Amino acid sequence: MALRPILLSIPLLLAASLTAASQDGEMLFAQRCGDCHGARAISAWGRKLPNPEQRGLWLEGFLATHHPPPENERAPIIEHIQSRYMRR
Ligand code: HEC
Repeated sequence: MALRPILLSIPLLLAASLTAASQDGEMLFAQRCGDCHGARAISAWGRKLPNPEQRGLWLEGFLATHHPPPENERAPIIEHIQSRYMRR
């Protein structure tokens, strides 16, 4: 029974960290990619890869070599691109 409060708090923690990640993603994108890429250029590119899953995988691979952001920033940056610029 002592575990119960801990288990209940897990979804709250997850929700909090997701919000943090999407805010960070916007900031990190501006910082790491914004000098060269505006929103419009990225969305034009996104239309060439209309399947969100494929696009995510492609970005994973691409950003490993294209002005690679530090490992821990890659996921929030990709999430930001996916959610912000490529909604159809
Ligand atoms: C110093 C400038 C510069 C930075 C910084 C940069 N890019 Fe790029 N990016 C380019 C150029 C130039 C191209 C087009 C040539 C190429 O494919 O390499 C490009 C291409 C791309 C493409 C493919 C576009 C297409 O039409 O094929 C994507 C997606 C992309 N960049 C995302 C990013 C992301 C995300 C970041 C940040 C982590 C980033 N870039 C950082 C200059 C930059």
